[in-house]
Amino acid sequence: MVSKKNVDRVSLKQQTSRAVSSVDQIREFFSENTELFSDPDQIMPAILDGQLCLDMIATVAVAQQPQIKRVLDLGCGGGNASNLLLQKLQSKAPNLRNQLPDVNLTLVDLSREMLQTAEKSLAKRTSGIIKTHAQDIRKLSLKENHYDVILCSLVLHHLRHEREWLDTYKQLHTALRPGASLFVFDLVDITSSSIHQDAYTRYGQYLSKTVDDEYRDFVFDHIKQEDTPRSLLWQIDQLRAIGFSEVDILHKHLCYAAFNAIK
Ligand SMILES: C[S@@+](CC[C@H](N)C(=O)[O-])C[C@H]1O[C@@H](n2cnc3c(N)ncnc32)[C@H](O)[C@@H]1O
Repeated sequence: MVSKKNVDRVSLKQQTSRAVSSVDQIREFFSENTELFSDPDQIMPAILDGQLCLDMIATVAVAQQPQIKRVLDLGCGGGNASNLLLQKLQSKAPNLRNQLPDVNLTLVDLSREMLQTAEKSLAKRTSGIIKTHAQDIRKLSLKENHYDVILCSLVLHHLRHEREWLDTYKQLHTALRPGASLFVFDLVDITSSSIHQDAYTRYGQYLSKTVDDEYRDFVFDHIKQEDTPRSLLWQIDQLRAIGFSEVDILHKHLCYAAFNAIK
C-alpha cells in the first residue's frame, strides 16, 4: 500500500505550481522519482484500480496474442506493464515453467533512469532482446506492421494538442501487425462537469483514506500541472476512425480507464 511512510521514504520531489509541464520538466520529474514510479506496490494504490487494470491487460494480451514475440512499451517507466505481461505469459505456458519467454521488448521513455531500471528488471523476465530508446513518443519512427502488442500505461495523458494524439495513435496503428493488439491504461478526462466533480470528490476521498489529505493535494496538483488527458469516448472514437477493427473497454473507474484496440 502507499503509506505516508513510503511516500516520505522515497522523498517525492514535488514540483512548484506553474503552467502545464514541458517535456524537459516531465523527464526531470520522472528521473528524480524513478524509485517511486518503478515500484508498483508504492505507486499503483494511488491510481484507481491500477494493479487490476495492468493485470487485465496482461491476461487479455496473452489470450489475444498467444504467439507474442514483439512488444513495444511506450512510457515504460520502471517496466511495470511489461513485467506483468511477461509473468502472465510464463504462468500460462506450463512448458515454459523453468524457461523465460522469448519476447523481444522495445522500451521507450523520456527518462534514461527509468529505462535503466526497466531494462534491469525485465532482463530477468525474458530471454529475448531488449532495446531501449530515450525518446519522446511524439518523435518516434516505428517499424511498420511489426509489433504483436503495444502497451501504453499512464503515458498518453502527457500528450497535449489534438494533432499529437491523432499522430501518435496513427503511428501505433501502423506499427502493429494486422491482428495485433494495442492496450491503453490511463487517466481520462470527464467532459460532463457534474460527473467530473463527483469523480474527483470520490477520487480525493480515496487518496485521503489511502494516505492522507496532503498526499491527495499533491496528486491533484500534479495532475493539474502535468496531465492533459482526453476522454475515454473521444479516444475510442479516434481509434475506430483510424481503422482499428475492434475497440473495447476493459475497465473504467471514475477518472481512470483501460481499453483495447485490435488492428
Ligand atoms: C506514470 S509513469 C508510468 C510508467 C509505466 N508505464 C507504468 O505503468 O508504471 C509515466 C512514464 O512516461 C514517461 N513519459 C512521459 N511523457 C513521455 C513522452 N512524451 N515520451 C516518452 N515517455 C514519456 C515518463 O518518463 C514516465 O516514466
